[in-house]
Amino acid sequence: MKRARHFLFLSLAWSSFWACQNDAPPVSSESPGMTRETPSPVSTRVEPRQPKASPGNFENLIADYESKDRVIWQKPDMVISLLGDLEGKTVADLGAGSGYFAFRMLPKAQKVIGVDIDPRFIAFMDSVKVRLSKQYQDRFESRLAKPDDPMLKPGEADAVVMVNTYGYIENRVNYLKTLSKGMSDHADLLIIDFKKNSLPVGPEDEFKVAVSQVERELKSAGFEIQKIDNEALDYQYIVMAAKSETNK
Ligand SMILES: C[S@@+](CC[C@H](N)C(=O)[O-])C[C@H]1O[C@@H](n2cnc3c(N)ncnc32)[C@H](O)[C@@H]1O
Repeated sequence: MKRARHFLFLSLAWSSFWACQNDAPPVSSESPGMTRETPSPVSTRVEPRQPKASPGNFENLIADYESKDRVIWQKPDMVISLLGDLEGKTVADLGAGSGYFAFRMLPKAQKVIGVDIDPRFIAFMDSVKVRLSKQYQDRFESRLAKPDDPMLKPGEADAVVMVNTYGYIENRVNYLKTLSKGMSDHADLLIIDFKKNSLPVGPEDEFKVAVSQVERELKSAGFEIQKIDNEALDYQYIVMAAKSETNK
Protein backbone atom coordinates (compact mmCIF):
# COMPACT_ATOMS: atom_id res chain seq x y z
CA MET A 1 0.00 0.00 0.00
CA LYS A 2 2.82 2.34 1.03
CA ARG A 3 4.66 1.41 -2.13
CA ALA A 4 1.58 2.11 -4.28
CA ARG A 5 1.25 5.56 -2.68
CA HIS A 6 4.90 6.25 -3.29
CA PHE A 7 4.43 5.26 -6.92
CA LEU A 8 1.39 7.55 -7.23
CA PHE A 9 3.36 10.44 -5.71
CA LEU A 10 6.23 9.94 -8.15
CA SER A 11 3.86 9.58 -11.11
CA LEU A 12 2.19 12.85 -10.24
CA ALA A 13 5.52 14.59 -9.79
CA TRP A 14 6.49 13.26 -13.17
CA SER A 15 3.29 14.48 -14.81
CA SER A 16 3.93 18.01 -13.46
CA PHE A 17 7.43 17.83 -14.84
CA TRP A 18 6.12 16.63 -18.18
CA ALA A 19 3.61 19.49 -18.32
CA CYS A 20 6.48 21.91 -17.87
CA GLN A 21 8.80 20.26 -20.38
CA ASN A 22 6.17 20.18 -23.08
CA ASP A 23 4.81 23.62 -22.32
CA ALA A 24 1.39 21.99 -22.50
CA PRO A 25 -1.03 20.43 -20.06
CA PRO A 26 -0.39 16.75 -19.29
CA VAL A 27 -3.44 15.34 -21.03
CA SER A 28 -3.36 11.69 -21.98
CA SER A 29 -5.90 9.44 -23.60
CA GLU A 30 -6.28 7.65 -20.25
CA SER A 31 -7.17 10.87 -18.51
CA PRO A 32 -10.40 10.29 -16.56
CA GLY A 33 -11.28 13.94 -17.05
CA MET A 34 -11.14 13.52 -20.79
CA THR A 35 -13.43 10.52 -20.86
CA ARG A 36 -16.19 12.05 -18.78
CA GLU A 37 -18.68 14.51 -20.13
CA THR A 38 -18.77 16.52 -16.90
CA PRO A 39 -15.83 17.45 -14.68
CA SER A 40 -15.10 15.28 -11.67
CA PRO A 41 -17.23 16.15 -8.66
CA VAL A 42 -14.24 15.65 -6.37
CA SER A 43 -11.91 18.12 -8.03
CA THR A 44 -10.50 20.78 -5.73
CA ARG A 45 -12.44 19.44 -2.80
CA VAL A 46 -13.41 21.38 0.32
CA GLU A 47 -10.20 22.31 2.10
CA PRO A 48 -10.35 26.09 2.48
CA ARG A 49 -10.49 26.20 6.25
CA GLN A 50 -8.10 23.30 6.67
CA PRO A 51 -5.03 24.10 4.60
CA LYS A 52 -2.97 21.76 6.74
CA ALA A 53 -4.78 18.54 5.90
CA SER A 54 -3.77 15.47 7.84
CA PRO A 55 -0.70 13.66 6.46
CA GLY A 56 -2.85 10.77 5.22
CA ASN A 57 -4.70 13.12 2.89
CA PHE A 58 -1.72 14.56 1.14
CA GLU A 59 -1.58 12.16 -1.79
CA ASN A 60 -5.30 12.74 -2.33
CA LEU A 61 -4.75 16.48 -2.38
CA ILE A 62 -1.96 16.14 -4.91
CA ALA A 63 -4.09 13.85 -7.08
CA ASP A 64 -6.90 16.37 -6.84
CA TYR A 65 -4.75 19.40 -7.70
CA GLU A 66 -3.18 17.56 -10.62
CA SER A 67 -6.48 16.20 -11.87
CA LYS A 68 -6.61 16.04 -15.64
CA ASP A 69 -10.10 17.52 -15.94
CA ARG A 70 -8.87 20.90 -14.68
CA VAL A 71 -7.56 21.56 -18.14
CA ILE A 72 -11.16 21.55 -19.36
CA TRP A 73 -12.89 23.66 -16.74
CA GLN A 74 -10.00 25.92 -15.73
CA LYS A 75 -8.25 26.42 -19.09
CA PRO A 76 -4.78 26.99 -17.59
CA ASP A 77 -3.17 28.07 -20.87
CA MET A 78 -5.84 30.70 -21.46
CA VAL A 79 -5.52 31.86 -17.84
CA ILE A 80 -1.74 32.20 -18.10
CA SER A 81 -2.04 34.07 -21.39
CA LEU A 82 -3.94 36.80 -19.51
CA LEU A 83 -0.62 37.80 -17.96
CA GLY A 84 0.70 38.72 -21.39
CA ASP A 85 4.34 38.31 -22.31
CA LEU A 86 6.19 36.92 -19.28
CA GLU A 87 9.62 36.99 -20.85
CA GLY A 88 12.13 38.52 -18.46
CA LYS A 89 9.55 38.62 -15.66
CA THR A 90 9.39 37.09 -12.20
CA VAL A 91 6.04 35.50 -11.42
CA ALA A 92 4.89 34.50 -7.95
CA ASP A 93 2.25 31.78 -7.61
CA LEU A 94 0.70 32.28 -4.19
CA GLY A 95 -0.73 29.11 -2.68
CA ALA A 96 0.99 27.17 -5.43
CA GLY A 97 0.10 23.74 -4.01
CA SER A 98 1.52 21.06 -6.30
CA GLY A 99 2.71 23.74 -8.73
CA TYR A 100 -0.06 23.12 -11.25
CA PHE A 101 0.15 26.72 -12.49
CA ALA A 102 3.71 27.47 -11.40
CA PHE A 103 5.27 24.78 -13.58
CA ARG A 104 3.11 25.69 -16.54
CA MET A 105 4.39 29.27 -16.37
CA LEU A 106 8.03 28.24 -16.11
CA PRO A 107 8.76 27.97 -19.85
CA LYS A 108 7.39 31.48 -20.36
CA ALA A 109 8.88 33.46 -17.47
CA GLN A 110 12.38 34.35 -16.37
CA LYS A 111 11.65 33.11 -12.86
CA VAL A 112 8.72 31.46 -11.10
CA ILE A 113 8.36 31.43 -7.33
CA GLY A 114 6.00 28.76 -6.00
CA VAL A 115 4.83 30.17 -2.68
CA ASP A 116 2.98 28.07 -0.11
CA ILE A 117 2.59 27.86 3.65
CA ASP A 118 2.50 24.07 3.74
CA PRO A 119 5.96 22.46 3.79
CA ARG A 120 4.57 19.32 2.15
CA PHE A 121 3.71 21.27 -1.00
CA ILE A 122 7.13 22.91 -0.91
CA ALA A 123 8.70 19.43 -0.77
CA PHE A 124 6.46 18.24 -3.59
CA MET A 125 7.40 21.17 -5.84
CA ASP A 126 11.06 20.55 -5.04
CA SER A 127 10.63 16.90 -6.04
CA VAL A 128 9.36 18.09 -9.40
CA LYS A 129 12.08 20.71 -9.73
CA VAL A 130 14.95 18.23 -9.43
CA ARG A 131 13.65 16.41 -12.50
CA LEU A 132 13.71 19.50 -14.67
CA SER A 133 16.49 20.47 -17.00
CA LYS A 134 19.12 22.74 -15.44
CA GLN A 135 17.71 25.66 -17.40
CA TYR A 136 14.31 25.27 -15.70
CA GLN A 137 15.73 24.35 -12.30
CA ASP A 138 17.59 27.64 -12.23
CA ARG A 139 14.38 29.52 -12.93
CA PHE A 140 12.16 27.88 -10.32
CA GLU A 141 12.14 28.56 -6.60
CA SER A 142 9.76 27.16 -4.03
CA ARG A 143 9.25 29.45 -1.08
CA LEU A 144 7.76 28.65 2.30
CA ALA A 145 5.66 31.63 3.33
CA LYS A 146 3.70 32.69 6.39
CA PRO A 147 -0.10 32.75 6.49
CA ASP A 148 -0.03 36.56 6.70
CA ASP A 149 2.96 37.21 4.44
CA PRO A 150 3.87 35.80 1.02
CA MET A 151 7.52 36.54 1.85
CA LEU A 152 8.31 38.37 -1.36
CA LYS A 153 11.23 40.77 -1.43
CA PRO A 154 10.35 44.42 -2.07
CA GLY A 155 9.22 44.83 -5.68
CA GLU A 156 10.27 41.26 -6.50
CA ALA A 157 7.24 40.04 -8.48
CA ASP A 158 6.30 41.37 -11.91
CA ALA A 159 3.17 39.24 -11.88
CA VAL A 160 1.29 37.38 -9.16
CA VAL A 161 -1.26 34.60 -9.54
CA MET A 162 -3.55 33.29 -6.86
CA VAL A 163 -5.61 30.34 -8.06
CA ASN A 164 -8.16 28.58 -5.82
CA THR A 165 -6.40 30.16 -2.84
CA TYR A 166 -8.02 33.52 -2.08
CA GLY A 167 -10.55 32.03 0.36
CA TYR A 168 -7.78 30.43 2.41
CA ILE A 169 -6.24 33.78 3.28
CA GLU A 170 -7.29 35.34 6.56
CA ASN A 171 -7.24 39.12 7.11
CA ARG A 172 -7.10 39.50 3.37
CA VAL A 173 -6.89 43.29 3.21
CA ASN A 174 -3.78 43.27 5.39
CA TYR A 175 -2.41 40.36 3.41
CA LEU A 176 -2.94 42.22 0.13
CA LYS A 177 -1.24 45.32 1.53
CA THR A 178 1.79 43.21 2.45
CA LEU A 179 1.68 41.52 -0.95
CA SER A 180 1.66 44.84 -2.79
CA LYS A 181 5.07 45.65 -1.28
CA GLY A 182 6.46 42.54 -2.97
CA MET A 183 5.08 43.61 -6.35
CA SER A 184 6.83 45.87 -8.81
CA ASP A 185 4.90 49.01 -9.71
CA HIS A 186 3.62 47.56 -12.99
CA ALA A 187 2.89 44.07 -11.72
CA ASP A 188 -0.40 42.34 -12.50
CA LEU A 189 -2.30 40.42 -9.85
CA LEU A 190 -4.50 37.63 -11.20
CA ILE A 191 -7.03 36.02 -8.88
CA ILE A 192 -9.09 33.03 -9.98
CA ASP A 193 -11.65 31.48 -7.70
CA PHE A 194 -14.98 29.75 -7.60
CA LYS A 195 -18.26 31.48 -8.32
CA LYS A 196 -21.02 31.21 -5.75
CA ASN A 197 -23.84 28.69 -6.36
CA SER A 198 -23.31 25.00 -6.08
CA LEU A 199 -21.08 23.70 -8.81
CA PRO A 200 -19.81 20.26 -9.76
CA VAL A 201 -16.31 21.32 -8.69
CA GLY A 202 -14.92 23.42 -5.87
CA PRO A 203 -15.76 23.96 -2.21
CA GLU A 204 -19.14 24.48 -0.61
CA ASP A 205 -20.59 27.96 -1.10
CA GLU A 206 -19.89 28.95 2.52
CA PHE A 207 -16.16 28.73 1.83
CA LYS A 208 -16.24 30.82 -1.33
CA VAL A 209 -15.56 34.53 -1.56
CA ALA A 210 -17.94 36.41 -3.83
CA VAL A 211 -16.29 38.34 -6.62
CA SER A 212 -17.84 41.57 -5.31
CA GLN A 213 -16.04 41.00 -2.00
CA VAL A 214 -12.74 40.33 -3.78
CA GLU A 215 -13.21 43.63 -5.59
CA ARG A 216 -13.93 45.53 -2.35
CA GLU A 217 -10.98 44.01 -0.54
CA LEU A 218 -8.57 44.75 -3.38
CA LYS A 219 -9.66 48.39 -3.47
CA SER A 220 -9.31 48.69 0.33
CA ALA A 221 -5.78 47.34 0.05
CA GLY A 222 -4.73 49.92 -2.55
CA PHE A 223 -5.30 48.01 -5.77
CA GLU A 224 -7.29 49.09 -8.78
CA ILE A 225 -9.36 46.62 -10.74
CA GLN A 226 -8.32 46.16 -14.35
CA LYS A 227 -10.76 43.46 -15.33
CA ILE A 228 -13.41 41.16 -13.94
CA ASP A 229 -14.48 38.25 -16.12
CA ASN A 230 -17.34 36.02 -15.04
CA GLU A 231 -17.81 34.38 -18.42
CA ALA A 232 -14.53 32.91 -19.64
CA LEU A 233 -14.63 30.04 -17.13
CA ASP A 234 -17.83 28.17 -16.34
CA TYR A 235 -17.17 27.77 -12.62
CA GLN A 236 -14.80 30.56 -11.80
CA TYR A 237 -14.33 34.29 -11.93
CA ILE A 238 -11.16 35.98 -13.07
CA VAL A 239 -10.02 39.22 -11.45
CA MET A 240 -7.07 41.22 -12.74
CA ALA A 241 -5.77 44.04 -10.57
CA ALA A 242 -2.75 46.29 -10.25
CA LYS A 243 -1.40 48.66 -7.65
CA SER A 244 -3.27 51.95 -7.73
CA GLU A 245 -1.20 55.06 -8.49
CA THR A 246 -1.28 56.14 -4.85
CA ASN A 247 0.03 52.72 -3.78
CA LYS A 248 3.17 52.87 -5.91
C1 LIG B 1 -6.76 24.68 -3.13
S1 LIG B 1 -5.02 24.84 -3.04
C2 LIG B 1 -4.66 25.57 -4.60
C3 LIG B 1 -3.33 25.14 -5.12
C4 LIG B 1 -2.95 25.71 -6.48
N1 LIG B 1 -3.03 27.15 -6.53
C5 LIG B 1 -3.81 25.11 -7.54
O1 LIG B 1 -4.61 25.85 -8.14
O2 LIG B 1 -3.69 23.91 -7.79
C6 LIG B 1 -4.73 26.15 -1.90
C7 LIG B 1 -3.28 26.27 -1.52
O3 LIG B 1 -3.08 27.47 -0.78
C8 LIG B 1 -2.16 27.22 0.25
N2 LIG B 1 -2.36 28.28 1.25
C9 LIG B 1 -3.31 28.38 2.19
N3 LIG B 1 -3.18 29.54 2.88
C10 LIG B 1 -2.11 30.18 2.34
C11 LIG B 1 -1.47 31.43 2.62
N4 LIG B 1 -1.89 32.25 3.59
N5 LIG B 1 -0.41 31.77 1.86
C12 LIG B 1 0.03 30.97 0.87
N6 LIG B 1 -0.53 29.77 0.58
C13 LIG B 1 -1.60 29.39 1.30
C14 LIG B 1 -2.48 25.83 0.70
O4 LIG B 1 -1.41 25.23 1.42
C15 LIG B 1 -2.74 25.15 -0.65
O5 LIG B 1 -1.58 24.64 -1.22
